[in-house]
Amino acid sequence: MASYVRLALFLILLCSPFLVDAVNRDNFKRCDQSSFCRRCRKIEPGKTPYQLLPDTLIQNESMITIDLFNKDTGVSYVVQLTSLKESTFRLHINEKNPLHPRYENEYALHDQPQITKLDSVEKTTESITVVKGENKAILYVNPFKIDLYSQGVLIISANARGLMRFEHLRTKPVRSEQGENAEGAEINNNTYPGDGADSDPGAWEENFKEHHDAKPFGPEAVAMDFSFPGSEHAYGVPEHADSLALQSTKSTDPYRLYNLDVFEYETNERMALYGAIPVLYAHGKERSSGVFWHNTAETWIDILSSADNNVVESIVNFVSGSTKKSQVDAYFMSESGVIDVFFMLGPKPLDVFKQYTVLTGTAPLPQMFALGYHQSRWNYNDQDDVATIAESFDTHDLPLEAMWLDIEYADNKKYFTWDSRKFPNPLEMVHNLTGKGRKLVVIIDPHIKRDNNYFLHNDATSFGYYIKNRDGKDYEGWCWPGSSSYLDFFDPKVIEYYVGLYNLDKFHGTTNDVYIWNDMNEPSVFNGPEITALKDLVHHGGWEHRDVHNINGHMYIRATYEALFRRSGGSLRPFVLTRSFFAGSQRYATMWTGDNMADWNHLRISYPMCLSVAISGMSFCGADVGGFFKNPDSELFIRWYQAGAWLPFFRQHSHIETKRREPWTFNEETTQIVREALRLRYSYLPLWYTLFREHEVNGLPVIRPLWAHYPLESEAFTIDDHLLLGDSLLVRPVFQSGATEVAVYFPGENKVTWYDIDTMQPYQKTGYIKIPVTIHKIPVFQRSGSIVPRKMRIRRSTVAMKNDPYTLIIIADSNGKASGNLYIDDETSFEYRHGKYLYVRITLDSNKITSTLIDKLASYETQSWLERIDVANPPQGIKSAQLESHSMGRVTLETTYNPHNNVLTIRKPAVNMGEEWTIELLH
Ligand code: NOJ
Repeated sequence: MASYVRLALFLILLCSPFLVDAVNRDNFKRCDQSSFCRRCRKIEPGKTPYQLLPDTLIQNESMITIDLFNKDTGVSYVVQLTSLKESTFRLHINEKNPLHPRYENEYALHDQPQITKLDSVEKTTESITVVKGENKAILYVNPFKIDLYSQGVLIISANARGLMRFEHLRTKPVRSEQGENAEGAEINNNTYPGDGADSDPGAWEENFKEHHDAKPFGPEAVAMDFSFPGSEHAYGVPEHADSLALQSTKSTDPYRLYNLDVFEYETNERMALYGAIPVLYAHGKERSSGVFWHNTAETWIDILSSADNNVVESIVNFVSGSTKKSQVDAYFMSESGVIDVFFMLGPKPLDVFKQYTVLTGTAPLPQMFALGYHQSRWNYNDQDDVATIAESFDTHDLPLEAMWLDIEYADNKKYFTWDSRKFPNPLEMVHNLTGKGRKLVVIIDPHIKRDNNYFLHNDATSFGYYIKNRDGKDYEGWCWPGSSSYLDFFDPKVIEYYVGLYNLDKFHGTTNDVYIWNDMNEPSVFNGPEITALKDLVHHGGWEHRDVHNINGHMYIRATYEALFRRSGGSLRPFVLTRSFFAGSQRYATMWTGDNMADWNHLRISYPMCLSVAISGMSFCGADVGGFFKNPDSELFIRWYQAGAWLPFFRQHSHIETKRREPWTFNEETTQIVREALRLRYSYLPLWYTLFREHEVNGLPVIRPLWAHYPLESEAFTIDDHLLLGDSLLVRPVFQSGATEVAVYFPGENKVTWYDIDTMQPYQKTGYIKIPVTIHKIPVFQRSGSIVPRKMRIRRSTVAMKNDPYTLIIIADSNGKASGNLYIDDETSFEYRHGKYLYVRITLDSNKITSTLIDKLASYETQSWLERIDVANPPQGIKSAQLESHSMGRVTLETTYNPHNNVLTIRKPAVNMGEEWTIELLH
């Protein structure tokens, strides 16, 4: 009874945003409360006990294998270094004879990484040098470290600080009455002093608050330090509500990657959040590089910045004799698994981003509707409510793609069922929406209500589909439905079963236009340690939850993606929203930043949070517009729409206890400004869509930090309240109440001019300029030399826009040149993968605008035509223009020149977008 009351109190706290408004830190571990973090962090930089055994070297075409020995423990390891395509090396270290297999994840990489032939391997008594093209790895024998060079420059050094730790599997020491005596004797006898793990009180069992972790396999941590000489900043390792550039952790806890449901998370924090992507980038003026720490267990990361390195002996100073170079150091510590690291050698930011997505995959092109505006709330009460809200979007002349239903739609939180009182006819509700080109998105969570009248629970129980306790019984935790168990998505049989649940004849009330939101998939367990599952639970294959925790949510969305794919017979592109994610999750889902708050700090942090996941492979990111907890005032609400319109995923969502906040619930002026923000978003959808397609092909993030394109501008390295959309738009939202101006940083080393998208006013100076703002706008600029496709018709949804004509916004650079791309297809199906698309390159050069098909073999019959071209900074004295195309022949076009904004407009070229054409500007 007492624990029931405690739980009830906890649930009240969890659900009520108005009782507390700060994170309860006591619920979450600090490094010193986690035994493996404590042990790894205790290591002092200096001499490592590890040494290579050169006589064991074996080489094949693309890989070397060599033994590594720990002088303190006598344990041997096997090191493999493989040369991969795209300037990448893979380092893999495992025990030579582990007591039992250690977990190696197979779900983050999208494929077997592609190997390349090594040019040469040279061995001396001191080192082994492995050469591939302009890249080279030197493995030092004693003390063990690896230096990675490119073009003769040291880029990354592993174990340079000697912090590597690889806790070998061991048998539990038995305490005899005579004193301490270790089983598995020779590793703990006097010959070797050991690694000290056994004396750690948390090595063989660990408690956190009232939770006990049995740790049957004892200490098994792995850790490695990486130095990046010449780098000024490190980025990545999302998800944290923190700045994009990582901060020094010298006097704080490390950044933590452990997927957690953190109630009322705070900003500027390194605490773990819902997702974990262990990729880290280092960047300096000369070079960008990265490491992908391929480990799915709990991980902590210490960062030493350049400033900290002034006081430690920098390895680059040692190597180059220079004292001036900056350096960033990172130290990855994971609770279990093996060391499996990818070194990505750049050289430029975009190269490293690409190198990472070559490993973990890219996001498949979403359906166009996914890029429009979504309306959600916990909860829309019933099907009338849904219909009324959707209709109100029409009444208020606001575009809308999808209505969303949170957990209350299901019968007592039994997913795949409906509350028949509130939703007596879900199919009718869906058809109402789809009749207007809209969709429904419903939530499906991974916890299953333990209810004997629930088919899913009965199936899962009888088939043995739940994650197990150590004793082999089904694990029970507490979540929204009350007592719950959790399907084990590591079991292929469970995936098959779950995929089948989405069949339209099984999930009644749904159609192919109903898409899925996966929440709580960290997993969130209200009465579990740190609000998640126990680490000693057992998954399919006997793996402990400890080994796989960070990829648990990924396994779930992987199954949901598959389910939606199969549901439509592979014809429609799935849409899945996820809260939890891991490296590679971009292949399956869109993510959002979870339960933020209606305050300015959370609005502001949505930019670095999305930039950080975007450079870590997951471009499709958004934050709850308006803030999940609490009620925004109209100013914050407006600013959130204006900022949210420039993040890839654009959805309003709010907590069950907040006031209704659909765009018309404030006042007419607010509705009008929100309308403007939505229309602006929709007008740029052709650009978003093109960028998402390009991401799928080339792995580049859709939204980018300034340093991605301006890697030499130190001032831009820490800017994370601006973003670049592709390489052509610069966005700087308003993140402060009462702002009448904002400081915009214009990158480009004085070679680029930025044009205000509303006024076409040019800004040429590189650096900060104060830009006046009103409540109606945030500063957005288009780069000189770019061409951006838009659609200007005002519609109810993207379905209605499909055949709309295009407008091209061309900004000529100082040489009168510009270029940009446009991608068009059917916006919904996978036909584009069979060549049914148009990919067009548009250029302005020598007074001629030209559209050419980039992929000549692809084709798609579009009904869209070219409606208008605006050329800013046009050649002087243009009087008319002449179009030439195969189907239209030569046509003279009307042009007008506006001297106030220096824009030449060409009206109604009317050529079909699928054709190649030229338009000559004539004097
Ligand atoms: C937590 C999610 O983060 C939130 O968006 C959702 O509304 C609630 N769960 C209820 O499902």
